[in-house]
Amino acid sequence: MQFLELIEQRYSARSYKPDPVEADKLQQVLEAARLAPTRHNQQPFQLIVIHTANREAELRRIYPGAHFVQAPIVICACGIVAQDFVSRGRQGRRELDVGVVMDHLSLAATSLGLGTCWIGAIDFTAAREVLGLPEGVDPIVFMTLGYTDDPPRPKTRKALTELVRYEHW
Ligand SMILES: Cc1cc2nc3c(=O)[nH]c(=O)nc-3n(C[C@H](O)[C@H](O)[C@H](O)COP(=O)(O)O)c2cc1C
Repeated sequence: MQFLELIEQRYSARSYKPDPVEADKLQQVLEAARLAPTRHNQQPFQLIVIHTANREAELRRIYPGAHFVQAPIVICACGIVAQDFVSRGRQGRRELDVGVVMDHLSLAATSLGLGTCWIGAIDFTAAREVLGLPEGVDPIVFMTLGYTDDPPRPKTRKALTELVRYEHW
């Protein structure tokens, strides 16, 4: 598959079949995340793989959307404050690193026939409590993972002319 085709095939899957994700496919998407670039190669993140079965009530505290607990797996991407790359007194940017990591993961999942959906509108306090996150570990974003029955939809995106300038503003 051409890379652009793969990108076109990824979409936010908001309905899932009960079929479990095979262990080798889970390993492959995690490997894609592991290989992602990060600032200064600090890799300031940890992923928590959560099997949603029998945890629906507590997980709904984090995000109420039905697709969150319908997916057999959700992955919580955490930033590790102490490992964040801070240069010249600037703030760390672990959110940026985690975004790259999770984009690798979602595209790898697409290539394996799995659906994903980014979940950013989370209750951070509930995430900390439900997952037992220690201080210095920030929940940044979640991603659902599973076989989807949500039909693909056409992409609605701005035209390149609205998004790109050349040489100067
Ligand atoms: C950082 C981020 C956070 C998002 N948070 C949510 C969310 O909380 N719930 C949800 O259903 N979709 C969420 N989305 C999915 C976007 O709404 C979706 O990617 C966008 O509408 C484009 O649609 P597509 O993914 O189908 O191409 C999020 C996407 C990103 C990149």
